[in-house]
Amino acid sequence: MYRIAVLPCDGIGPEVIAEGLKVLDVAARKHGVQYETVEYDLGGERYLRTGEVLPDSVLDELREVDAIYLGAVGHPDVKAGILEKGLLLRLRFELDQYINLRPIKLYPGVETPIKGKGPDEIDFVVVRENTEGLYAGVGGSLRKGTPDEVSTQEAIYTRMGVERCIRYAFDLAQTREEKSLTLVDKSNVLTYGHDLWQRAFAEVAEEYPEVKTDHAYVDAACMWMVKNPEWFDVVVTCNMFGDIITDLGAMIQGGMGVAASGNINPEGVSMFEPIHGSAPKYTGQNVICPIAAIAAAGMMMEHLGEEECGKAIEDAVIAALASGKLGDLSTKSGVSTTETGDLVASLVE
Ligand code: IPM
Ligand code: MN
Repeated sequence: MYRIAVLPCDGIGPEVIAEGLKVLDVAARKHGVQYETVEYDLGGERYLRTGEVLPDSVLDELREVDAIYLGAVGHPDVKAGILEKGLLLRLRFELDQYINLRPIKLYPGVETPIKGKGPDEIDFVVVRENTEGLYAGVGGSLRKGTPDEVSTQEAIYTRMGVERCIRYAFDLAQTREEKSLTLVDKSNVLTYGHDLWQRAFAEVAEEYPEVKTDHAYVDAACMWMVKNPEWFDVVVTCNMFGDIITDLGAMIQGGMGVAASGNINPEGVSMFEPIHGSAPKYTGQNVICPIAAIAAAGMMMEHLGEEECGKAIEDAVIAALASGKLGDLSTKSGVSTTETGDLVASLVE
């Protein structure tokens, strides 16, 4: 019996999570997976009501669950950064979810803006380091608000943190058909931090002779992702670059509506979420595509070792996308959030 914490949070988060749970319910029943959900009321509304972002008692409870299923974080009436840092990043850091796994996979029937490329060309995984780098929150400001203001924001890289991320990426590359891993960095400019990445990558590579390795500077990687996405199989990169290139990745795989992710602690509690945000202006309109959230539920099952259940969800997502019934997956597709969830659930059945 798995215990799954559900954190719908802000904006359209609750709407897409409801569809993910609808599909999960059918898939789990069909494949004999038993679970219970515990829902937590976190996010902007709670913060505005009570001033609480992530109470320590809630965090302690989350340390004990088998997985976390999260919707989206971000509220228009809450200053940017409070919920992002206090809730989402705090969860990633406190639970030491040091991998952010982001598959960039174009499914058949989904339109990509990249001319001449299809599912054969767009199929890779970004392994984003998830606990360090520019996200570490190290820095400060001096003489704030004056013309002489000084501010610093430092990127923190530890050998341990970089190496465990790179090792995870090599392990993943080894399981894939192409067995190729590209390090994406900016080592021509970040000659301290990304030099550490380069050395760690070269050293770990020696333990994986069967994995082909490659390197791309992040600016060039953005170019190749558009020009020759087929060059990528597994990509490993730092937190900030991983954040940026996976929004680009989401677009080439068909949009924010389909891109799912897992915040993984291979030894602890992992958290699964769509990579899109809370899209406040669409809240309550039943127009957001829930495929990303549904696919994240599938990743969660796979991660828990329930491969059949996870695969059933992914297969139903693939069938729904191939059916031609979901339009262009945008908010103007004419297909509602709930209709999409119903369709995927019926295809699991
Ligand atoms: C993401 C998001 C977050 C990030 C924000 C909301 C803090 O953009 O999951 O990619 O930057 O990691
Ligand atoms: Mn992002």
